[in-house]
Amino acid sequence: MTEINFGATRRTILTAGVTAGAAAVLLPAPPALAGTPSKALPTDPFTLGVASGDPDHDGFVIWTRLAPQPLAEDGMGGMPNRSFTVHWEVAEDDRFHRIVRRGASPAVRQWGHSVHVELAGLRPNREYWYRFRVERYLSPAGRTRTAPHPSSLVPSLAMAFASCSQYEHGYFTAYRRLAEDHPDLVLHLGDYQYEYKAGDYVAPGGNPRDHQGPETETLANYRQRHAQYKADPDLQAAHAVAPWVVVWDDHEVDNNWADEVPERPDIPQPNFLARRTAAFRAYYENMPLRRTSVPRGIDLQLYRRVRWGALVNFHMLDTRQYRDDQACGDGSKVCPEAAAPERTITGAAQERWLLDGMRRSGTRWDVLGQQVFFAQRDTLDGPDKRLSMDAWDGYSANRRRVTQGWIDAGVRNPVVLTGDVHTHWAADVKLDFDDPAAPVVGSELVCSSITSGGDGADSDPADNATVKLNPHVKFYNAQRGYVRTTITPELLTADFRVVPVVSAPGAAAHTRATFVIEDRVPGVHQTYDRPRDN
Ligand SMILES: [Fe+2]
Repeated sequence: MTEINFGATRRTILTAGVTAGAAAVLLPAPPALAGTPSKALPTDPFTLGVASGDPDHDGFVIWTRLAPQPLAEDGMGGMPNRSFTVHWEVAEDDRFHRIVRRGASPAVRQWGHSVHVELAGLRPNREYWYRFRVERYLSPAGRTRTAPHPSSLVPSLAMAFASCSQYEHGYFTAYRRLAEDHPDLVLHLGDYQYEYKAGDYVAPGGNPRDHQGPETETLANYRQRHAQYKADPDLQAAHAVAPWVVVWDDHEVDNNWADEVPERPDIPQPNFLARRTAAFRAYYENMPLRRTSVPRGIDLQLYRRVRWGALVNFHMLDTRQYRDDQACGDGSKVCPEAAAPERTITGAAQERWLLDGMRRSGTRWDVLGQQVFFAQRDTLDGPDKRLSMDAWDGYSANRRRVTQGWIDAGVRNPVVLTGDVHTHWAADVKLDFDDPAAPVVGSELVCSSITSGGDGADSDPADNATVKLNPHVKFYNAQRGYVRTTITPELLTADFRVVPVVSAPGAAAHTRATFVIEDRVPGVHQTYDRPRDN
């Protein structure tokens, strides 16, 4: 990487600030970089903000993508047809006085003019700030941080997790409120974006805003859709506050896709693998992922571990790319086939990787960051079980191998984090959900959606039919929000944060309920059940 001095940018530090969404500051064009007028950038290309991700103890990824016209139909963001050199710098302070790394990276058309820089050799467990420059434009700055040294049992981690942000269903207020909590790490558990064209997926009460473009099928479509989402200032604020660790669910590609099978296998999609390839490529281009996740052919390596010292090991799963097709035609069913021992939601290789990783982990907490409901949710009274074929209930033998695996490995505190269902839940995980006397062997926390499903409504969890039918399920709420966690060596605390509306911008967030998980005590315990402001 070339060492480049930002020169004049230092004079603009005070106006640049560190707030995501802040307008880029116009700088005098350095003579060497002015370029020819016809190929120069027409306007500020930093409309999609900045992001960082996948921290380890000596580095992280920083990301941006150039797009002066983010909604351009060809997905190219209004970029001239050539490559650009993007300069970047990483500092120990938010005013960029103590710069510790700087360099230049190409933004090439083949990768949608995205920039991924992997930093290494930085100090463990500390904050950094980063920003980019191209031609005379300076990006907003982002805050990020390195993880603690793998052997360091740090006193706490402030982490938030979120999922399911259907742009059309509401304003991304919950992302803004998440940013205001200043977490040190954010997990996104999927449905970061949705594939539908405007009007195809309407929230109760109507959609306050629309998608641009058709249902996403081509690379141009997915690039345009990602750009529309990334242009949202609330989402930009959440990315700029902390490193994110992202995994996809289904809507980044196609509703309820399974490996090489689209949502509706009965409706021929001869180009589904081309669609999947386009979706994966656009996902990589638009996320702060490491080189290990550069797509190869029809595949993208997304499952991976992020370790936060000796405190937490995050095992991030991909339950879409390798799964068997949903049993009994998908849906919520009574379906004995779902329990077939050979069925897999992880694929054999990922299952081995997970079980092996849990055996070797040795951290105080082992967190499975993943997509679909893990604990059993039987929605039929009586001896038959009606279960979601898209969730782990549709692959119950695979679930049993995972829970037995963490028992055999002596995992001290296994916790499953989940998205997908657009509602908040807390549940005990049991080895045998059908035996009331069976021991609790782990815990599950499920975050509601950022917007998907529209405003939602509050209710008494005790009135929920699924809570009534499943004694291991302890909490339910159908408002929009995210989960804020504080993890210490002794306790994991989860605040279920909600916003009353997403159909209008600017709602305040409050904590609807707080659950804790104690060290060496599997299962969730409620400590607070009345709304509070912080
Ligand atoms: Fe969703």
